[in-house]
Amino acid sequence: MRLLTISFNPHEKKYLAIAASIRESILSGQLKPQDRLPASRDLANQLNVNRHTIMAACDELVAQGYLESLPRIGYQVVSVLPVEGCDLNESTETQQFNLSHLFKSPTASLSSADFNVRFNFAGGLPDITQFSMKVFKSHLNTALKQLDLGSLHYQGTLGNAKLREQIKKYLIRARGLSSGEILITNGSQEALFIVAQAVLQNGDNVAVEQLSYPPACAALSSNGANLITIEQDEFGIKPDSLKRVLAHSKINTPLHQYPTTVTLSPQRRSQIYQLAQLHDFLILEDDYDHEFHYRCSPLVPMAANDPDGRVIYISTFSKIMFAGARLGYVSAHPQVIEYLANSKKIINHKTECVLQQAVANWMSEGDFERHLRKMTQLYLARRDHLVQLLAEYKQAGFPINYAIPDGGMAIWLGCKRDLTGFTALAQSQGIFVQCQQDFNDDYIDFDHQGYQYVRLGFASMNDEMRREALSALMTLLFPAITR
Ligand SMILES: Cc1ncc(COP(=O)(O)O)c(C=O)c1O
Repeated sequence: MRLLTISFNPHEKKYLAIAASIRESILSGQLKPQDRLPASRDLANQLNVNRHTIMAACDELVAQGYLESLPRIGYQVVSVLPVEGCDLNESTETQQFNLSHLFKSPTASLSSADFNVRFNFAGGLPDITQFSMKVFKSHLNTALKQLDLGSLHYQGTLGNAKLREQIKKYLIRARGLSSGEILITNGSQEALFIVAQAVLQNGDNVAVEQLSYPPACAALSSNGANLITIEQDEFGIKPDSLKRVLAHSKINTPLHQYPTTVTLSPQRRSQIYQLAQLHDFLILEDDYDHEFHYRCSPLVPMAANDPDGRVIYISTFSKIMFAGARLGYVSAHPQVIEYLANSKKIINHKTECVLQQAVANWMSEGDFERHLRKMTQLYLARRDHLVQLLAEYKQAGFPINYAIPDGGMAIWLGCKRDLTGFTALAQSQGIFVQCQQDFNDDYIDFDHQGYQYVRLGFASMNDEMRREALSALMTLLFPAITR
């Protein structure tokens, strides 16, 4: 056996470091099966440790199945190593995985956005530099002091009682939504998955908008949904198109439709609700950025006019705080919440409890609404800045068209050219931008004009960066004009 040289780390137990080193020698093939180890006294001298430390290390490896202890012989490497059937010299990264046949072929998959770019136009990205960590940290500290020990166990699938109460009050105040019970979830994505799991049978039809939120579609189809596309126009989803489908359940548009940002008119909302009553389906309302509305008071959600309790209303703190908070909620009829809580228990028991308590304090102390007021002002100014920049490009002859959104965090920009494949091209130039094609899994091009739109998020960049980013994007979109 080669000389063991170990530099001991003061935070690590010596016998474990020695065991790791011997194990390494076995795995690298320096020690072969049935090789004997030197006498523990010799090893102890070599490493300048106590003999009992060597014996503890060897006993550890006996327990792990690498060594055996034989009377009058001492420790030797076992003849069959615990990890059989793989080449021990091959690093795990280079090993081929050949068990794919044991996994289902995915019914849905999502590409993960690469935000490692110079300019990020992601539509739902808040400006996290404006989130007051200092204020929130004080609520986190208080939350840790206040934590009810009971909340640290598995009970409490519905979520923190104070947070649920605060959300209820906020929904009444800000969204006119009063009848629901609340279930806290790990972001609205978990809520979407839970609903899909609780409602869908394999092959059920689910109507979704022609352009819709891919993670929602993925949550539905991976729970067996057969997605049926509903046409939409500049006013949002078309009730007539829905009428033709008569789905079992459907996704409805939030206040600012994703990705087009259109707000569905009250007339269309009521037509859709009547269809739901007539054909007995549920409505899933994913209202992800309701708070950022700039023109008059926002329309109340469909869930606010829901006598039957057939609207399942989902919202999130991902845009108000940051996506990493993974905090969302469902507001729905108490019976629906009971079904959904059962569904959530199967996935994840409950939502993390310290953050919930901190957000409850943040809301009850008024810091939440202060933050909302600040961000709404800021995003309004940023929307106007982007509108002004776009107007300048338009005046300079760029063939662009857009509607100024009443709220939200993005502008849906038409470019009058086919942008198929543009997302990847932009990414290769250090620009993250989502194009119409990215929101339409079925690649249905209803007006056969190609995918002409990009979604320009305006919330996360400051004015200087937005100007620079837009210039880089325009150069890429219209090389003939900018040249
Ligand atoms: C349509 C839509 N729903 C929901 C969300 C938020 O998802 P989560 O709460 O899981 O972060 C987003 C974020 O981009 C969104 O665009």
